[in-house]
Amino acid sequence: MIGFKTLAVPGPTNMPFEVRRAMEVPLEDHRAPDFPEFTLPLLADLKTIFRTTSGRVFVFPGSGTGGWEAAISNTLSTSDRVLTSSFGQFSSLWVAMCREFGLDVVNCDVTWGEGVPLDQYHAALEADTAHQIKAVLVCHNETATGVTSDVGAVRRILDDLGHPALLFVDGVSSVGSLDFRMDEWGVDVAVSGSQKGFMMPTGLAIVGVSQKALDACAGSNLPSSYFNFHDMLKMNEQGYFPYTPAATLLRGLRASIDMLTDEGLSNVVARHHRLANGVRAAIDAWGLRNCAVAPKWHSDTVTAILVPDGHNANDVIQAAYHNYGVSLGGGLGKVAGKVFRIGHLGWLNETMVLQALGGTEMALRDAGISFRAGSGVGAAVEYYTDSRKPLTLAAE
Ligand SMILES: Cc1ncc(COP(=O)(O)O)c(C=O)c1O
Repeated sequence: MIGFKTLAVPGPTNMPFEVRRAMEVPLEDHRAPDFPEFTLPLLADLKTIFRTTSGRVFVFPGSGTGGWEAAISNTLSTSDRVLTSSFGQFSSLWVAMCREFGLDVVNCDVTWGEGVPLDQYHAALEADTAHQIKAVLVCHNETATGVTSDVGAVRRILDDLGHPALLFVDGVSSVGSLDFRMDEWGVDVAVSGSQKGFMMPTGLAIVGVSQKALDACAGSNLPSSYFNFHDMLKMNEQGYFPYTPAATLLRGLRASIDMLTDEGLSNVVARHHRLANGVRAAIDAWGLRNCAVAPKWHSDTVTAILVPDGHNANDVIQAAYHNYGVSLGGGLGKVAGKVFRIGHLGWLNETMVLQALGGTEMALRDAGISFRAGSGVGAAVEYYTDSRKPLTLAAE
C-alpha cells in the first residue's frame, strides 16, 4: 500500500515521534548506579497523570489485563464478595477473572450500551450492612461499546453509606485521555496500560494504588508474585524493580508523560471531547446510531457505531481495511457484527479524525449502507470549524 495506513482502532493508538525517538536508545543496565536518577522522577511524575498525590503508581511489564489481575490478587482473598457490572466485552472479562480467582461475584448484568448502574450499586451496598462486599469494580470506559461511567458517583455512594469496600477502576481507555481523578474519586486500584492514552506500544500495565489498597494486601490470601505490589514498592523506593523492567518502554513513557503534562491534562481532556463531538456529528449525519444509548454514556475516546439491520458491521471493517488501509475496531462479544468502532484517542487531531471518517464513508458505501457521501465528514468539518476558538494572530 502506498501512503500511511490509518489507525482508527481504540488502541494501540498513534505513537508520537517524540515517544518513538525516546525509545531509540541502546539497551541499558537496569541495575546501573544512576538508573534511579531516571526512574524516581518518572514514577513521581506518573502520579500527576493519575491525579494522585497520596497513592503510588506501579509499572509492570504486561498489559491492562495484568493490571486487572494485580488489583485482585494483591488485595483480596478467596471467596471475598465483589460488586461488579458487565455491559461490554472488557467489563465482562474482568468479572470473569474475578470468578476465576474464586471470588464471590455479585454482578449487575447491564444492557450493552449503558454503563455502571448506580441505582443497583447503591441498593447492593446499602443492603450490605455487614460489609461483606470487599471491592467494587468500575469499568470507567467500556471500549467495546464506547460507554463512559461515572466513577465519582460510585465514590459518593460508598461515602454516603459509609461503606469501606475498595474501589477498583479499569482506566485502560480513560487514563491520559478522559478526566480521571484517582485521589478525588478515592480510587484504590486504577488499572491502565501503555497502548492507549499513553500513546505507546503495548507492554506496560500501569497501575495506581492507594495506601488503603496497599494496607489491604496484608489481609489477602490470594497468591501474588509477579504483580506483587509490595515487592514493587520496596524496589521502587530505591529506583529499581524486582525483576528486569521494560526499560526501553520506560524511556517512551517519560516522553509520553512529558507530552501530556506539556499539553496540560485539562487540555488533553478537552481535546478528546472536541474530537469525539466531531465523530458523533458524523454519525448523526449518516443517520446511524451510537451504541451508547444516551449522551451521558458517550465516550470521548471511542465510539461504537451500529450498522442498520440487515447489514454486517464486519463488511464495513473489511472494506475499510482492504480497500483503503483504514483500521476500524471490530464488534466484540455480544455486539460482534453489529457495530464497528472508531477510536479517537491519543496523539490525534481534527484532520486525523477526518481521515478516519472519510475512510469510513468509503467503506460504508462499499458495504452497501446508504447515506449521503460526504455528509458525515461535512458535519464534522462544520463542527470543528464552528467550535474553533478565533485565531489570534501575533502582532506584526
Ligand atoms: C477497557 C479495557 N480494559 C481492559 C483491556 C485489556 O487490556 P489489554 O488488552 O491491554 O490487556 C482493554 C483492552 O482494550 C480495555 O479496552
